[in-house]
Amino acid sequence: MYQSHLDIPAHVRKGVIALLQARLSDSIDLEAQMKQAHWNVKGKDFFQLHELFDKIHGEVEEFVDLIAERITTLGGVADGRVQTTAKNSKLYEYSLEASGGEAHLKAVAAVLAQFGKAVRADIDQAAEMGDAASADVFTEISRATDKQLWFVEAHLAA
Ligand SMILES: [Fe+2]
Repeated sequence: MYQSHLDIPAHVRKGVIALLQARLSDSIDLEAQMKQAHWNVKGKDFFQLHELFDKIHGEVEEFVDLIAERITTLGGVADGRVQTTAKNSKLYEYSLEASGGEAHLKAVAAVLAQFGKAVRADIDQAAEMGDAASADVFTEISRATDKQLWFVEAHLAA
């Protein structure tokens, strides 16, 4: 860890960096998955789903930056390498068979819910460790992820 005048104790920074790094790997994977959906969706709702998945991709790209820069703010090294991401992401692997809108919506909803659950747990963990600002980063991402899930699931409702 890098030296810093930041007044958060080193052991707290170390613990929070581990939380952030786990979510960095997940969010880089999630970002790629949203493009996967954006590129491959087919069917009568093609255009609006193509746009929706790209909009979510853009928001997830911002999560990646927020998480990575919180790691470096705390004196850590943000590891965004694809090798690390592939090894450490806990997210479901995106199906290559998904074709129609419903299949993509279900795949995207499942992975957003999975990511959202992990981020929600991070809010409490970061707060318990004593880093309210990192808890706030996770809270911001959590709120946005919940909203994305609502947008996606609204398409699946009868
Ligand atoms: Fe595109």
